[in-house]
Amino acid sequence: MEKAGKGRRGIDGHTLLAGVIGWPVAHSRSPLMHNWWLEQYGINGAYVPLPVAPGQFDTAVRGLQAAGFRGANVTIPHKEAACRIVDRLHRSAQRSGSVNTLVFASDGKIEGYSTDGDGFVANVEAHGVSVKGGRALLLGAGGAARAIAASLLDRGVAVVMANRTRARADALAAMLEGITVVDWEQAGDILPSCTMLVNTTSIGMEGAARARFPLDLAQADPALVVCDIVYVPRQTALLEWAATHGLRTVDGLGMLIHQAGLGFEKWFGVTPVVGPEVEALLDADLHHPAADGAG
Ligand code: ATR
Repeated sequence: MEKAGKGRRGIDGHTLLAGVIGWPVAHSRSPLMHNWWLEQYGINGAYVPLPVAPGQFDTAVRGLQAAGFRGANVTIPHKEAACRIVDRLHRSAQRSGSVNTLVFASDGKIEGYSTDGDGFVANVEAHGVSVKGGRALLLGAGGAARAIAASLLDRGVAVVMANRTRARADALAAMLEGITVVDWEQAGDILPSCTMLVNTTSIGMEGAARARFPLDLAQADPALVVCDIVYVPRQTALLEWAATHGLRTVDGLGMLIHQAGLGFEKWFGVTPVVGPEVEALLDADLHHPAADGAG
């Protein structure tokens, strides 16, 4: 690992490089988090936004690899293209069907990981909730739902999925063994037997159309843990509702930080502490007028 000493970092011939590939990418908070950690740990590294237009992904990735980058995060719209370019697709990426973290290995191969699901679990566990066994009700069937479902199933959690468009949940269940699908409007029936409720839909997101959840938290087991992956606003209507019923809640900001930390570890060799300082840094940035809620 390259040490530069805490404080202002210079860029030199030894600087370890990583970045985030997206289109657009200016909104990404990843540079903020990674560069803050690099500074905290005194690592001679830099993490940059990499705006790469659709169709240019492969050229850009090969170029970054040739230029000596350690790797990169991948965000919209390149997550599927990232699956295709990798030489070694990690199990996490296979199971979630997408890659958000590329590592350029020393043998010249490109490795692809998905850190979303494990980031979700790490965040829940950081809130003092053991993710082992039990039954989770997942609302939604998009990319985030798939990654989270895969990580929960790996930890022996029974996953029940409800999505407004049932066919999407059925398609996902066909790819990940162990998911039970229920109709969106029937989600409330399953709630009393669940230990965890996870919202992966955009309901509650700032700017999204208002919609109701098809369940009544008054029916929940008092031990239910309610998680939302929406983090703008941080305190979503669902989490507020859960709190009024005395239920434990886990907000979405920590997932964003934990999934980033898993990539940081791979490129820079240090497991960053996900603590109140980095949360406050991100929280403050999200309240900046330029914030638009994307990772
Ligand atoms: P991501 O990949 O980030 O998870 P996505 O693929 O756009 O995002 O999925 C968004 C999820 O929010 C979907 O499950 C979507 O339901 P549909 O599959 O029926 O579109 C869900 N969603 C968005 N708006 C919703 C609403 N008003 N009511 C219920 N579900 C909604």
